[in-house]
Amino acid sequence: MELRERRIGIEALAVQLPRSYLDLGVLARANGTDPAKYYFGLGGRRMAIPSADEDSVVLAVRAAGVLLADRAADVSSIGMVLVGTESGVDAAKPIASYVHRMAGLPSDCRVLDVQHACYGGTGALRLAAAWVLGGARPGRKALVIATDVARYDVGSPGEPTQGAAAVAMLVGEEPRVLELLPYPEAVHAAEVMDFWRPTYRSTALADGHYSMQCYLDALESCWRRFAGATGLGAGAFDYLLYHTPFPKMALKAHRRLCELSPDGPPAGGADADWERRVLPTLWANMEVGNAYSASLFVSLAGLLEHSEIDAAGARLGLFSYGSGSCAEFLAGRVGPDASAWRNRTGLRDALAGRRELTYEAYLRSRRSYEEQGRDGSFRAAAGGAGPAFCGTWNHQRIYRDAAWRSGTGWTSGEERTAEEASPFRAGHASRGAQAGS
Ligand code: COA
Repeated sequence: MELRERRIGIEALAVQLPRSYLDLGVLARANGTDPAKYYFGLGGRRMAIPSADEDSVVLAVRAAGVLLADRAADVSSIGMVLVGTESGVDAAKPIASYVHRMAGLPSDCRVLDVQHACYGGTGALRLAAAWVLGGARPGRKALVIATDVARYDVGSPGEPTQGAAAVAMLVGEEPRVLELLPYPEAVHAAEVMDFWRPTYRSTALADGHYSMQCYLDALESCWRRFAGATGLGAGAFDYLLYHTPFPKMALKAHRRLCELSPDGPPAGGADADWERRVLPTLWANMEVGNAYSASLFVSLAGLLEHSEIDAAGARLGLFSYGSGSCAEFLAGRVGPDASAWRNRTGLRDALAGRRELTYEAYLRSRRSYEEQGRDGSFRAAAGGAGPAFCGTWNHQRIYRDAAWRSGTGWTSGEERTAEEASPFRAGHASRGAQAGS
């Protein structure tokens, strides 16, 4: 039952990752844990670790830059920027504002963040699609970015499930990457305390095993709604993508979905079916770790970038879960030229360009991140091109404000240093931070 004639969905997609990673075996040995627990018990391989000059803003701006460099859209056609994130850098100012300025988007643009733990990116995608279809700004497209940095305390059970990524998506009526199929919505909300991050903390807290139970309860509720309203079973999908805090969670989710599917268990059992219809979507998550709101879209990019799969026309079932909680099961169809996205989303370049950290370097990078977030921690950005977080000065976050020249990349020649970009240079001092606004 497809109710809509106009098509809507993701027209283009770009992924950005931190420059460094930590191997989970290195972390396991440092924690006195059997590496098999992290590699096989949780299913991860590596986790992306941001440097002190990389935060959720920088990852989002870089992803937007890759998307726009691909000439996926004329920047003047973008009428809304929605950032799905749970790694906000300010309790009032949205990441979307920084993206809007640094990507050079037009001023007649609505910009805001959407927050609900790992569901924020999916919520933003759904709201953007409804806005485009609503037709308030005919011809305009929306830029949706899911960006997050997952940080848990050193030595905590959540530590091996850290990670970070940003996925930028152009939402419009020519869904070449993924068309959102117009089935009735299958959403679920329940106020639970399974995972949270108080505003005074830089790391998340989780009741880990309870959060897995909440995830599976929400999946069950969404799936019953979806299957009940559509009459479809799990067999209707070529691939199933699950929110992936760690890859083993997607196996647990698939087992549950198959148990409840009206078309009965898959031939050969749920685990064999998982290898066929879920595992091909997880290889990038295994490299990146948990990217919270971006995780589901890292799986989508992984499927598009899979070296042995041409997903053209594939029907996807996608499950998004945000602790706290809100969840949704939705269906999509990959565009007919899926193979055109291979080596084009930025994912493979970002993975190939990473450097491995030692455990000591990982600890140093965490300490440096904490320092950098303190007021008065301003320092000029190091070399390299592109946006960078340079510290906090007079209660304002300072970013290296690289110029973006469409189609040519970040132009280091036009960069201003952090000091030049600072609003506290001569002539700008009167714009210093004030209480309230
Ligand atoms: N070799 C292989 N597997 C091993 C192992 C070993 N030496 N030791 C343990 N394992 C397996 C366990 O059997 C378990 O697998 P199972 O779930 O299939 O039974 C898995 O590794 C994890 O072990 P467990 O003891 O449950 O891990 P934990 O209690 O230390 O932490 C989380 C697991 C998920 C609770 C923790 O990482 C966390 O809090 N994460 C953050 C919250 C989160 O991601 N929630 C998910 C829903 S949003």
